[in-house]
Amino acid sequence: MKFLIGLIVVIWPVAGFLYFKMGFAPVATADGTMPFEGWAARTSLHVRLNREMPRSVPIQPSLENYTAGAKIYKDHCSGCHGFKGQEQQPEVKGNVSQAAAPIQG
Ligand code: HEC
Repeated sequence: MKFLIGLIVVIWPVAGFLYFKMGFAPVATADGTMPFEGWAARTSLHVRLNREMPRSVPIQPSLENYTAGAKIYKDHCSGCHGFKGQEQQPEVKGNVSQAAAPIQG
């Protein structure tokens, strides 16, 4: 059992080192994402958001506030994030880092 654990502890760092050293990592703009890249970025982002987000919401849920928020989104965010059910904007498509889909729900 110790041998198996030792083997795993050694194999993972060596495999990771060889993955980068032998040029398997996707570095060109046309390449796909690295394995686990999306998971790592999303997980880190959500942990950070959960840690730093305010615990009380200073804005009341009212029609005026929702309408004002929708206008801000339309004017300042939709250029990249688009609208629900709409395809991503052409200028965002093909970028290395694509804008997230619009908030669903
Ligand atoms: C110039 C383009 C652009 C504009 C304008 C823009 N964003 Fe983004 N946004 C991005 C990109 C690119 C990402 C990263 C997406 C990814 O990596 O998944 C992102 C990510 C986000 C995320 C994180 C999404 C996630 O799934 O974790 C949120 C939330 C967000 N934007 C909100 C906004 C809001 C709110 C506005 C307007 C006030 C806005 N964005 C305007 C390009 C833009």
